[in-house]
Amino acid sequence: MSDHMTVLVTGGAGYIGSHMVLALLDAGHQPVILDDFSTGHEQLVPNGVPVFRGNVADAGLVAEICNSYEIDAVAHFAASIVVPESVSDPLKYYLNNTASTTRFIAACVEAGIKRFVFSSTAAVYGNQDHNPINEDASTQPENPYGTSKLMSETILRDCARAADLSYVILRYFNVAGADSKGRAGQLSQPATHLIKIAVEAAVGKRSSIQLYGTDYPTPDGTCIRDYIHVSDLIGAHMAALAHLQADGESMLANCGYGHGASVRDVLDVVATLARKELAITDAPRRAGDAAILVADSSKLRRKLGWTPVYDDLQKIVSDALAWEQANP
Ligand code: UFG
Repeated sequence: MSDHMTVLVTGGAGYIGSHMVLALLDAGHQPVILDDFSTGHEQLVPNGVPVFRGNVADAGLVAEICNSYEIDAVAHFAASIVVPESVSDPLKYYLNNTASTTRFIAACVEAGIKRFVFSSTAAVYGNQDHNPINEDASTQPENPYGTSKLMSETILRDCARAADLSYVILRYFNVAGADSKGRAGQLSQPATHLIKIAVEAAVGKRSSIQLYGTDYPTPDGTCIRDYIHVSDLIGAHMAALAHLQADGESMLANCGYGHGASVRDVLDVVATLARKELAITDAPRRAGDAAILVADSSKLRRKLGWTPVYDDLQKIVSDALAWEQANP
């Protein structure tokens, strides 16, 4: 295989997948998108990128894509991702994430795909006593979203072992921000993640923000998370592809910076950068929230040579804010 890769990006019209498509184009590779547009947006698809509209579970469609393009690797982003929804509608998560991913893996093996990068989540860890969390921590998901992803990880690992398939599983912590050039960002409605919600409030799209829990055992009483800029997260995917292309071993790695920010820290940065006072309402704790979730990302740095370039909450928020202002 030459250095040039053709990469099938499932969920390539979504928030994170669209940043992957841009990174592949920027690096001179060929992305091919598979997206059912249930939460994806045409607006996020760059001109000229081939798009197949449909579901990852559609074996016939995956076969058609693999017949039309010589796919060197897949990056599988397509999934349902809202934690509270997974509690109220677990079947959606087991069907959309676990069952569909199983069918997708089957179709990839059938088509002779050799490299697979899989989007997993810190939700597989559940509540941990120790932070930062490394990959050896026990997996004890607190919600069906985390379980659906953990089961997919297991299925991928088993199938890879039995086939000529190697993989990198990436467990994302809190992904936020937007493309620094303004080409992609979060459009999902309704917003469910803190930074998206806060920048929506900053631009007047919502009147107030609920702060879930002010009595956590943290310095300011609010939860601490490891917010990672979406472009650094994509940097990890590009490093994973290079690793697999160089016949590197299958592996699993956390994606985060290794330090966190509290909810109040985030809201302060948003208010400062937007030059606007935010209406914040203290609310009770949200069910299932861990006090602190911070990644130990030393494995990602060591094994994949990942070096973040946007490790700065101000940068994450300013890119999210710029996107929100440009996409009202
Ligand atoms: N929060 C608020 N108000 C809001 C939204 C969030 O106070 O309106 C707080 C939450 O309670 C939490 C923090 O902001 O303390 C971050 O919440 P998010 O919903 O943005 O993110 P989570 O940490 O809950 O979820 C993230 C990922 C999930 C993943 C999970 C792993 O977004 O995909 O980490 O536990 F499953």
